[in-house]
Amino acid sequence: MSPFDLVIRGGTVATASDTFRADIAVKNGQVAALGLDLGEGEREIDARDLLVLPGGIDAHCHIEQESSTRIMTADDFYSGSVSAAFGGNTTFLPFAAQHKGQSLREVVRTAHERAGPKAVIDYAFHLIVSDPSENVMGQELPALIMEGYTSFKVYMTYEMLKISDRQMLDVLSLARRHGAMTMVHAENDDVISWIAERLLTRGHTEPKFHGIAHSPLAESEASRRAIDLARLVDAPLLIVHVSAPEAAQAIRDARNRGLPIYGETCPQYLFLTLEDLDREGMEGAKFCCSPPPRDKAGQDAIWLGLTNGTFQVFSSDHAPYRYDETGKFAAGPHPTFKKIANGVPGLETRMPLLFSEGVGKGRLTLNAFVALTSTNAAKIYGLHPRKGTIAIGSDADLAIWDPAWERTITQDMLHDNMDYTPYEGMTVTGWPRIVINRGRVVVEDETLQVDRGSGEFLDRVPEPPRDQSFGDAAPLSAYRAFGADLV
Ligand code: URP
Ligand code: ZN
Ligand code: ZN
Repeated sequence: MSPFDLVIRGGTVATASDTFRADIAVKNGQVAALGLDLGEGEREIDARDLLVLPGGIDAHCHIEQESSTRIMTADDFYSGSVSAAFGGNTTFLPFAAQHKGQSLREVVRTAHERAGPKAVIDYAFHLIVSDPSENVMGQELPALIMEGYTSFKVYMTYEMLKISDRQMLDVLSLARRHGAMTMVHAENDDVISWIAERLLTRGHTEPKFHGIAHSPLAESEASRRAIDLARLVDAPLLIVHVSAPEAAQAIRDARNRGLPIYGETCPQYLFLTLEDLDREGMEGAKFCCSPPPRDKAGQDAIWLGLTNGTFQVFSSDHAPYRYDETGKFAAGPHPTFKKIANGVPGLETRMPLLFSEGVGKGRLTLNAFVALTSTNAAKIYGLHPRKGTIAIGSDADLAIWDPAWERTITQDMLHDNMDYTPYEGMTVTGWPRIVINRGRVVVEDETLQVDRGSGEFLDRVPEPPRDQSFGDAAPLSAYRAFGADLV
């Protein structure tokens, strides 16, 4: 009998810190040995000329989720997870989204009912908290955090989702007490609606005006405010889908002061610009997402943020609304920019795009690529070291990556349930040949190899409560000095 279930031989292994030649032996779904001349496996994979990377973790995607205006995403947990797997991911973190008036407990139950029978890769849920009622804040949220739902997103914009600054202080301090991570969609809602109202009154309704209404200042102001609110209560905070240079700078400044502020960005801010929103007719609707893509200088600032440590996480923010009446045109065939469903797809193209333009063009090291697409998300969201690395005892989650595979992205080669990709026609170099999750070969020979529902839900545990101040949390020390404990 072979000592191992699977041995991957001859590949170049890369983690967030190291790159080395090694064989990888897998037993019972975990990495059992790393080395040269390992014993035999039941199955052997020849990885010569290939890279062996930790499977990707897409830490921000909207799957089988209703938007705030109750439009259902085009992808369910089957098509979403299959698409993610074909793009090199072995774990994803969609949202269990609360709409106003809903019980969080109910929302989590629904997410499990939707994901369990369908997901083909492993998953965990972030919560979305849009209604921090007494019951949610006093009972449901603390209990759910203790049960392992240790991250949640709040919104500073969208009429039906936004919370006030006061509510934000409540959730941040609750997150601090219970060891959870708050994620924030930082855009100033009043600024956006003030500009939008003026644009609409003057008859400026086309998709490109979405990009004007969602000014970079709306994003940077809200980002700075969110950071200051977090600082006030000494809580960690992760700002999601950052696109504005000044928002990136605000994160960098906070991190330089030692504050536990984290940043996420997405492919749409590297590969799309405002000009895409100005395409012929209603085509621009395909690129309407919030925050919107910016200009070339904005793209450069986001690339810089990926290389200088401003951003820790690179996610897709896959929010799939088709270019038809089920998605972008749910409000009619010629909606104003205010009525176009927000979001772009990108689960399957996230890693190949970053690899090709980042590693392939010398902007990022291979190790930085691994950190941004897998390891850092595992660490920040409580999945490390089970996920996000290649180490003895970690889950055998691997993307066996062909760095020389040149592919031109077209919608028909993708596996989501969309009818367009924003990246149609882009040629990239580097794509996974084989994707392995807990030792199971999920994708090989461009074919799905596993059954619906074979993905596993991932338990997480909250961080231990911290009574130390983080970094330069001056206000906290000031009121502590007076013997007051506000958080
Ligand atoms: O435009 C976007 N990003 N739509 C998805 C919802 C969100 O804000 O993440
Ligand atoms: Zn958002
Ligand atoms: Zn999102």
